[in-house]
Order: sequence, then structure tokens, then C-alpha cells
Amino acid sequence: MRRMTLVLAAAIAAGCDARPEFDAAVVARTTIGLGLPLTFLLGTASAAHQIEGGNDNDWTATWEPAHIRNGDVSGRAANSWVQWPEDVRAMTELGANTYRFSLEWSRLVRGRGEPWDAAAAANYRSLLLRLKAEGITPMVTLHHFTLPRWVADEGGWEWPGIADALGSFAREAAQRYGDLVDLWCTVNEPNVAAYHSYLQGAWPPGFTDTKRMVGVMVQMMRAHAAAARELRAADLTDADNDLRPALVGIAHHVQVFEPASWSSTDTAVAGLTDEFFNDAIPESAKTGRVHLYVPGEIEVDEPVEGLADSFDYLGINFYERNFLRFDITDPALSRTYVPADRPTNDLGWDQYAEGLYRLLVRFGRWGWPIYVTENGIADQQGFARPDYLRRHVYAVEQAIQAGVNVRGYFHWSLIDNFEWAEGYHGKFGLFSIDFSDPALTRRPTAAVRTFCSISRAMGRRCTGG
Ligand code: GCO
Repeated sequence: MRRMTLVLAAAIAAGCDARPEFDAAVVARTTIGLGLPLTFLLGTASAAHQIEGGNDNDWTATWEPAHIRNGDVSGRAANSWVQWPEDVRAMTELGANTYRFSLEWSRLVRGRGEPWDAAAAANYRSLLLRLKAEGITPMVTLHHFTLPRWVADEGGWEWPGIADALGSFAREAAQRYGDLVDLWCTVNEPNVAAYHSYLQGAWPPGFTDTKRMVGVMVQMMRAHAAAARELRAADLTDADNDLRPALVGIAHHVQVFEPASWSSTDTAVAGLTDEFFNDAIPESAKTGRVHLYVPGEIEVDEPVEGLADSFDYLGINFYERNFLRFDITDPALSRTYVPADRPTNDLGWDQYAEGLYRLLVRFGRWGWPIYVTENGIADQQGFARPDYLRRHVYAVEQAIQAGVNVRGYFHWSLIDNFEWAEGYHGKFGLFSIDFSDPALTRRPTAAVRTFCSISRAMGRRCTGG
């Protein structure tokens, strides 16, 4: 009961946080980019399984096409495994100075205890060298939603050995690429991965069990801590001469949650969800303990070795705001909705740039430098993306002006890609791809010009508009 009161108080306090509303006319006449510091990283983000093509992992083994919208499969995806030089060319069209991508664990380590696949390792190295030649700083993610089959066969995220296994993978990545990489992202979105795979059952292995979801989040933070330790120990080469050879963080998915009404149940569930989804992970990296609470189901409070002080930065993935209505029959204890008058993207997500500002101010208070490791819009037509991009980078500039240490912004995504259970339905690319085109040509959408205007205002050369 005491806890419920605290949660209510937190929800009310959150409700009292400043809620700016951006004036469209002001955003329109602002030269976006001028408000970003010289060292700011501006670029795009991607993930291996979504773009590479030809992957063989837990998704292809058990999940595609049966559980994917329209029966899609990742298949050849955007064929970036081969066509990555075109991706890098697209980045130069944007004038981007950074690129976040992930290493596909299943390509590099084909079986338990096996050495790294030399050809696969060389392909990633070629990409890193090309990025360096173009003046594009890499951020490398170690785990972005997929597991090798051999890890899945051991029990996936419930395998007690997974933290050590990810740690070894991190060590090898640092030894091989540390001379070219300083920015490391251990695990992408532990909360989203655990939720979809263990509570909602929409991603492999498809469980619907609150206790397992909570256990997996703890495991993910163990794996993060192990990877952070190994990266710091093995990456001793300063790739960009800033005297810091390895900066380690995670990409944490955050959302704005609002109660659907001021009823005590809606308010309480919004507060609890906010605490579980948004705060539990950064809190765990401050305290060294993972504390997760789902009323009536489970509460864990577990110490994790090496977790305290394991973040050098906090990565924030921001896409949406959700309104929550209490619903005892839902495993998440609520249903989400977006009011009918709100602008939404092709997947029905609220477009709310002020939310990014609010969350940057809020998460800035934890004290870590922040990178916006993802932000983007599913927009097949490409009409809404230019304004979306301007408004969200404006939000970043406003947060910097308010004193938040935001060091970078990675737009999701460079190119259209395989959107997990949504298959090829969600189109997030600044460059669109027609997946039936044998050449998979990367075609600039209108937002490429917008992106260019921002990089140009930062003093970057860009060829895309
Ligand atoms: C995520 C992932 C990306 C998605 C993107 C759009 O946030 O779920 O990191 O892989 O494709 O967010 O949904």
C-alpha cells in the first residue's frame, strides 16, 4: 500500500513536470542544427538482422514467417551485408558524422566455443574502415534482438551462461575492432525485448509470463554488466583521440506514459508502468541492483556484479507517447491508446516531439551524457518525416539549451528495413527501398534534404539536397 501511495505521488509529480508545446511557426523559422555543439554526433541507426539479409538466428529458426505480419521473412532484407558501400554513400549524402549498427552474433560465432568466422569479421572491419575514411564515427551494438541458434538452444535469455557468453563476445569485438570503435552499446532495449519475447509473446521464444519477463530483464542487465567489464578491459585504443578508448552504454527505450483519466487506477497504472519501463534500468545502473515490481505478480531486487557504474552514457530510443487505461485482464495491467485527434505514424504511434524534450530533461538528471540512440517515424509516403525530423532535432536543441548534456542523435533509420513482427510494413528509412526491386536501390525520401540542411548548419558537407 505504501508503495502504491509512492507511485501515485510520483505519477502526480511527473504530471507536474513542465510540458512545453512547440510553436510550429517558431520551429519553421529556426535553422535547425545551429543549436548543436561542434562535437555533436548526427547520424542514423540500424540493426544487423533488419538490414543485412541472409542471417540464420533464433528469428529465422523459429519465428519467420509464421509470426510475422503478411507472412514476411527477413530473407535478403536490404542486403546490406553485401550492399553496405551503398549505405555508406547514403550516409555521405546526409552529411552524417556517425552511424550506429549492430554486429550479428550468429554470423560471427556459429557454435558454442567456436572461433569467430574470419570472413564475417573481415566484412565488419571493411565497413568500419570505410566509415573511418568518410569521417563517420561508429557506435557498435552487441545485441540487437537476435540470438544465435546455439544460444537459443541453451535457453536463450534464461540460460545461466548467457552473461558470460555475451561477455566473451564483447571481449573479442573489443580486441578486433577497438582500434576503430570507442562507442559501444551492449544491449538494445532490454525492456522492449523482454516485453515482446516473454510477456506479449510476439517475438521469439514467444512466452506470456510476467515472472519470466522480469527474470529475463535481470539476465539482460547481468549480460550488459559482463559486456561492459570486458569492453573496458579489452578496448584500450583511443580511436578518436578524446582520451577515452571505450565508452559503454545501452540503448534504453523510453516512452511518455499518460493516464487515460485522473481515476486512481489509471493514474496508478501509468505510474507503475513508467517506473518499470522507464526508470528501472537507469536506476539499476546507479544502484547496482535490479529492482522490478509488478503488483500482485512479482517483485525482485537483485544485486548484479559490476552493474553499478557500468554506464558511461545513457542511450535513449524515443518514438512515442501512450495513454494508459487500467485493465486487469491485460498482462501489462493496462491498455494503451492514442487520442483520435493526435497525429500518428503508419503503425499508429503518437508523434510527440515535446515528449523527447521532456524525457531528455528528465533522464539528463541521472547525470550521464545522453545519446538519442534512436528516433524515427514509420511513414511509407515520406510526407510526414521532414517535419518529424525537424521537430525532434529541435527538441534536442531545446534540451541542450536547458542544460542537458546530449551528445548525439541517431535517426532510425538510414534505409527501410525488416521491422520485426511488422515485417516490411513499417517504413522508417530516410532512404526508401522497394523490396521487390532486384537491385534494392536506396532512394532518397524528402527527409534527406531536411537532414542535409541540419548537417549543413553544423558545418558538414552533404550532397543530398
Ligand atoms: C526498436 C528497435 C528497432 C526498431 C525501431 C522501430 O526500438 O524496437 O531498436 O529495431 O526497428 O525501433 O520500431
